[in-house]
Amino acid sequence: MATPTVRGLGHSVERKEDARFIRGKGNYFDDIVLPGMLHLELLRSPYAHARITSIDTSKAAALPGVVAVVTGELMAQHNLAWMPTLSGDTQAVLATDKVRFQGQEVAAVVAESPYVAKDALELIEVEYEPLPAVTNPQQALGEGAPLIRDEKEGQTDNHVYHWEAGDREATEKAFAEADRIVSLDTHYPRCHPAPLECCGCVADVNPATGKATIYMTSQAPHVHRTLFALVAGLPEQNIRIISPDIGGGFGNKVPIYPGYVVATAASLLLGRPVKWVEDRTGNLISTGFARDYHMHGELAVKDGRFTGLRVKMLSDQGAFYADAQPTKFRAGLFHIVTGSYDIPAAFVETDGAYTNKAPGGVAYRCSFRVTEASYLIERLVQNAAYELGVDPADLRMQNFIQPEQFPYVSATGFEYDSGDYPAAMRLCLEKLGYEELRAEQARAREEGRLLGIGLASFTEVVGAGPAHTYDIAGLKMFDSAELRIHPTGKAVLKLGVKSQGQGHETTFAQIVAEELGIPPEDVDVQEGDTDNTPYGLGTYASRSTPTAGAATAVISRTLRAKAQKLAAHLLECSEDDLEWNAGRFSVKGAPDKGVSIQDCAFAAYTNMPEGMEAGLEGVHYYNPPNMTFPFGTYAVLVEIDRGTGQWKPLRVVAVDDCGVRINPMIVEGQITGGLTEGYAIAAMELIDFDDEGNCIGANFMDYLIPTSWETPSFELGETVTPSPHHPIGAKGVGESATVGSPAAYVNAVVDALAHAGIRNLEMPVTPDKVWHALNEAGLAT
Ligand code: CDP
Repeated sequence: MATPTVRGLGHSVERKEDARFIRGKGNYFDDIVLPGMLHLELLRSPYAHARITSIDTSKAAALPGVVAVVTGELMAQHNLAWMPTLSGDTQAVLATDKVRFQGQEVAAVVAESPYVAKDALELIEVEYEPLPAVTNPQQALGEGAPLIRDEKEGQTDNHVYHWEAGDREATEKAFAEADRIVSLDTHYPRCHPAPLECCGCVADVNPATGKATIYMTSQAPHVHRTLFALVAGLPEQNIRIISPDIGGGFGNKVPIYPGYVVATAASLLLGRPVKWVEDRTGNLISTGFARDYHMHGELAVKDGRFTGLRVKMLSDQGAFYADAQPTKFRAGLFHIVTGSYDIPAAFVETDGAYTNKAPGGVAYRCSFRVTEASYLIERLVQNAAYELGVDPADLRMQNFIQPEQFPYVSATGFEYDSGDYPAAMRLCLEKLGYEELRAEQARAREEGRLLGIGLASFTEVVGAGPAHTYDIAGLKMFDSAELRIHPTGKAVLKLGVKSQGQGHETTFAQIVAEELGIPPEDVDVQEGDTDNTPYGLGTYASRSTPTAGAATAVISRTLRAKAQKLAAHLLECSEDDLEWNAGRFSVKGAPDKGVSIQDCAFAAYTNMPEGMEAGLEGVHYYNPPNMTFPFGTYAVLVEIDRGTGQWKPLRVVAVDDCGVRINPMIVEGQITGGLTEGYAIAAMELIDFDDEGNCIGANFMDYLIPTSWETPSFELGETVTPSPHHPIGAKGVGESATVGSPAAYVNAVVDALAHAGIRNLEMPVTPDKVWHALNEAGLAT
């Protein structure tokens, strides 16, 4: 490990990026103001399902300050009324025939100011012929359901896809031989990442050169550039996507939205820059919804061991199948649903249905549907403990994949790289004081108080590729790092990923520090400009550390090997006579005789040996041999008010294992944020719809996000089980706590009521639901 002065791995280096963020000196897309810039606003559908009979834009076009009014018909003339989604479906950019969800983009106004553009929206006259709305997937697949995608050739119903994993026969056998079957029906409701900054862009197509510079809120700028080139037919070298500072993404900024496309088309046609800024309601009703999985799980148990898992899942895809996920996997990585348990047989069946809701299916702080999977198995296991009359912690311990079983191949086909689940569980229980709390729970119950202890022992799968298995829209999933060391020993590291606040400028500099001995403050990390960074698939699904982090370590090692040749030349010795220690090569046995990495860098430009290419730089595209599998155990203690159904987390203990931690402070920040979002999803966040498809949850009065007042305090712990295939042993961590914690919160509330036969409460677990459960169980006061 690097010395304290170099501050490589394991050091809580202060976040370099915060110097500008906390001074208000960040550079977000809305800070970009270009000469002659126009403003774009979108007209959205008031109906969830309706045929458009006419659109009259004349009054809007006549408003002073309006430069253009764009309709689907105009977009169709340029072959841009529809665009492909990341799941191989099509999505309307501006509606031409029908609207298929409330909030769908129908027309756009481009004007000299955003205020004029907004006023003009009200002058567009659209005549609709309302159609019956489909608001859940069961209804969508039921008899007589209105056909939502009637424009799609060959589409005769609302079914989107069917997908399976595992071994049906082996699973049926396990169930036939089981001495107990535990089942759970649950819905992981629709929620929204709701980043602080909504989506938006400034599209600037230069009429003289044809160069399109698009500043946009993009978690995957390179992928977006390629898709823009393919869809709009623009030459790829003429498209430059710049993703500046981003105020949170959480998956919301992975897909391409109509606003980006219309703004770019408008700039191309008008020859002036066009800015589109999404407002909060637009964000909540039309972009980036997450989850909406209806799940049925069954666990076969024999002699206290889990012998089989059977899962059926039906997803609500909204009007367009737009999940941002690897092509082969129609339900993301939901088949990680066997979780942390050694379950010999499993079979998972998934189906999707179109409904009259916004598309999205984004992995809200999750690796493509891992959250839903983790929630289901952890809720099922907890219920199995109640059915068997055993302690939920003991049942987990008894069924965990054991440390010596790694690498472990799951019944649905994942090869888990490493893990020590019992160790994480033991540490979590110890920190919580589990035994004493169980005794206190029993005492409290006698006094009429309801305490509950919820556990969740999650396993995640993050870091896509490998490229042979994972691709997005045909683009293989790898990632990249380009490292240049200047003559004075200062470095620039350019990456294909893109931070949205995760601290990459600090942690990736620490990897260079570890491998090359150049302190993090001397390494400038650059991301997000497609003209200036190597190709990469972007940041989502906790993949930056497993992929670009590995690429950074590999390219640093390559440059160190070249530096060693330079050192041998400077010291006039053989390379083999040198040893490396934190930024310095010295002659074996003569530690005073040595040169620093900075000396080597200088020599690379001023004094290289005969025949050696000048410079000290290189690029590496890293194709991970496998995913990484972070894990942990979370425990939540709650108390329920028997009069109101209000529940309050009294303690939250989280033990995480993400392998080697690059920056412990940043990792803890990631976990704290994730535990907060997990609490929000479990307790209050919900995008809901009425029977006509009106979205409830379209603003922060209805879509509740917790403030510091509601958010519990967290007690964190760690175990370290390095990934055996990652060059620095690190696994991703950005999403662990959002994935693992919702089940722990809900399990805690259920645990407080389990003695009275309660086995399920649907998220968000609002006080009214708990109050009904208290009444049902005869526990209300
Ligand atoms: O892809 P994303 O950046 O969202 O997720 P990540 O790779 O899990 O990393 C989140 C942040 O935590 C980054 O700044 C990482 O470098 C840091 N991290 C760390 O310090 N140690 C780890 N083992 C994993 C992540």
